[in-house]
Amino acid sequence: MQTIAFLGLGAMGARMAAHLVKAGYPVTVWNRDPAKAAPLQQQDATLVATARAAAQGADVVISMVTDDTAARSVWLDAQTGALDGLQAGAIAIECSTVTPTWVRQLAEAVHSRGAHLLDAPVVGSRPQADAAQLILMVGGAEHALEQVRPVLSTLAAKLLHVGAVGQGAVLKLAVNALFAAQLQSVAELLGFLTRNGYAPEQAANLLGEFPVVAPPIAGAAKMMAAKNTAPLFTIDLIEKDLGYLLDTASASGADLPSASVARTAFQRAQQLGLGAANVSGLAAVFA
Ligand SMILES: NC(=O)c1ccc[n+]([C@@H]2O[C@H](COP(=O)([O-])OP(=O)(O)OC[C@H]3O[C@@H](n4cnc5c(N)ncnc54)[C@H](OP(=O)(O)O)[C@@H]3O)[C@@H](O)[C@H]2O)c1
Repeated sequence: MQTIAFLGLGAMGARMAAHLVKAGYPVTVWNRDPAKAAPLQQQDATLVATARAAAQGADVVISMVTDDTAARSVWLDAQTGALDGLQAGAIAIECSTVTPTWVRQLAEAVHSRGAHLLDAPVVGSRPQADAAQLILMVGGAEHALEQVRPVLSTLAAKLLHVGAVGQGAVLKLAVNALFAAQLQSVAELLGFLTRNGYAPEQAANLLGEFPVVAPPIAGAAKMMAAKNTAPLFTIDLIEKDLGYLLDTASASGADLPSASVARTAFQRAQQLGLGAANVSGLAAVFA
C-alpha cells in the first residue's frame, strides 16, 4: 500500500487521517500542536516532529490546514517545510481551502522536485468527514489523480476531476459563496419572520418544508432557531473563503455583489465575537 503523510490534524484533518489509518495505509502524521495527534497514534499512526520529516519517503502527502498562510508554512518553511522532503514521483495533495493563486504556485514548486500536485478541496463538514462522505473537487493531472484515487476514495462520496491545478480551489470558493449567500438569506429571514409573528423554531421548521430551501440550509435554519452554535464550520473559515473568492473575482473581473454582502454579514458576526462559532451564529446579526 502507498505510504501517506498527513499534515494538519484540525477538525477535518484528524477525521480524514483516521479513515486512512483505518483503511490500513501506513500513515505518518504531523500537526503544529502535536497533542492533537494522540488519538491517531493510538490507532497506529506515526507522529513526527516536522512536516518535512512526514513527507520524507511518503508516496502521498496530504495537507489540511486553515488557509494560505498556514499552507505556505507547512509546505515551504525553510527549515521544516514538506516540499523539501518530497521524493520524486510523490503525489502532493492540498485539501485545504486556499486561493487558486497560491495552489498554482505550490504546483510549480512541487513539479520542480519531480513530484506532482493535486488541489483537492473538500465540500462537507465534520459529520461528512466522519462518515467518509466528503465531495472532493480535484484539479491536476489525470495520471496523478489515478495514482491516488483509492486513497482519496477512502475519504469521499464523490471525486470530481475539474481540470488543471487551481480549478478545485476556484470551484470550492464558488460553492462556499452559494452556501454563504443562502445562510445570510435564511438568517435575515428568520429575523424577519420572528418579528412578524412566528416563533423561531416554527419559522425554521416551516422554511424546511419548501423545495427552494436545500436540506443543509434547512438544517442551518434549525440550528439558528435553537441558538446552536457548536462549531462544525466556523464563521472565521467562511469569512476567509469569501475574502479569497472576492480577491480571485477582482483579479478576473468577475462581479459578485451577493458574496460581498454575505462577507459583510459574516464580518459583523466576527465583530460580535462569534468567529469561532458555527456559521449558524450568523443569526445573531439579524436577531
Ligand atoms: N470545518 C469544516 O466544516 C470545513 C469544511 C470544508 C473545508 N474546510 C477547510 O478545511 C481546512 C481545515 O479546516 P478545519 O475545520 O479542520 O480547521 P481547524 O480545526 O481550525 O484546523 C486548522 C488546522 O490548521 C493548522 N494550522 C493553522 N495555522 C497553522 C500554521 N500557521 N502552521 C501550521 N499549521 C497551522 C492547525 O494546527 P494547530 O492544531 O496546531 O492549531 C490545524 O491543524 C480549512 O481550509 C477549511 O476552510 C473546513
